[in-house]
Amino acid sequence: MSQPVTSEFTDFVTDKLDLVEEELARQAGADTPFVTEAANHIISAGGKRFRPLLVVLSSQLARQDPDDTGTVSDQDLVRAAVVMELTHVASLYHDDVMDEATLRRGAESANQRWGNSVAIMVGDYLFARASEAVAGLGTDFVRLQAQTFARLVQGQIAETRGPQPGEDPLQHYLDVVADKTGSLISAAAVFGGMVAGLPQTQLAVLRRFGEEIGLVFQLADDLLDITSTRTGKTPGIDLREGVATLPVLLLRASSDPADQPVRDLLDADLSSDEALARALEGLRASHVMDEARAGIRSRADRARSELAALPAGPARDALAQLCDEVVSRSS
Ligand code: FPP
Ligand code: MG
Repeated sequence: MSQPVTSEFTDFVTDKLDLVEEELARQAGADTPFVTEAANHIISAGGKRFRPLLVVLSSQLARQDPDDTGTVSDQDLVRAAVVMELTHVASLYHDDVMDEATLRRGAESANQRWGNSVAIMVGDYLFARASEAVAGLGTDFVRLQAQTFARLVQGQIAETRGPQPGEDPLQHYLDVVADKTGSLISAAAVFGGMVAGLPQTQLAVLRRFGEEIGLVFQLADDLLDITSTRTGKTPGIDLREGVATLPVLLLRASSDPADQPVRDLLDADLSSDEALARALEGLRASHVMDEARAGIRSRADRARSELAALPAGPARDALAQLCDEVVSRSS
């Protein structure tokens, strides 16, 4: 169905993302050098800019060929992308406080550097900046932004409380991921479509595509917490915090006695680095890792199949390619 993405289209997208980068730094500016520095801290540490990328790509779905630069204004496009990234970064300041994380994007986390109170307030500041920016796009954008914020927060609360009695832990985890990550990634895909004035039917497709690829994105990210030592975050932090992600849930659901030794490693006190390293090693060698990867792949296929209902062209090709790239992060 899809063609390779041309270098013209890639250059076009890169140009727009450069504009987004400039505007992000500008939006994080504040009345004092201290707040400006603290608000730029996580933004300038890097990040994948996955949500801005989705905004830019979905805003180009109406264009038919690489030379057609369309009618989407840079101002609206950049603003929509910046709103999504600022909201995401704001949530990371709060998330790192909740997780007691010490590293984010390879840099010292804001809570580690300036303490919890400053980190929380800086997250609020960035969310305020996102709220002001989204007002410039119109009421429909403000509504979706507010609905997304409500889902983010509820997902995070559900994760904090954990599965309640009678609730299936795997379903609970998937619902949490849908709310805390799928919601914002879905909103990013829809925001792009909205700035391009796409019809409601296509916005609905983008919403479903975004939910699905957002789930894949977080499941892959959670797998990296187990597999990678190069994420710029402390590996195994989910295990230590007792946040059960896909492979752990698959292991707990398994009735195979051969899985018991790894379950015991995970259930041990993981506060020492040695115990955490042993648990990580056991989990990495378990068959559940392959099962988790297969689950992620099949969801990415589902995301890709949604794209068939969108107009063919370079943006749709790039979205299809993104489905593969998100999966390959976790392999
Ligand atoms: C990262 O999860 C966290 C999120 C995707 C959402 C967090 C949402 C809030 C804290 C609600 C507050 C929101 C705003 C906008 C102020 P993770 O811990 O699994 O990922 P990580 O490995 O990147 O830390
Ligand atoms: Mg976290």
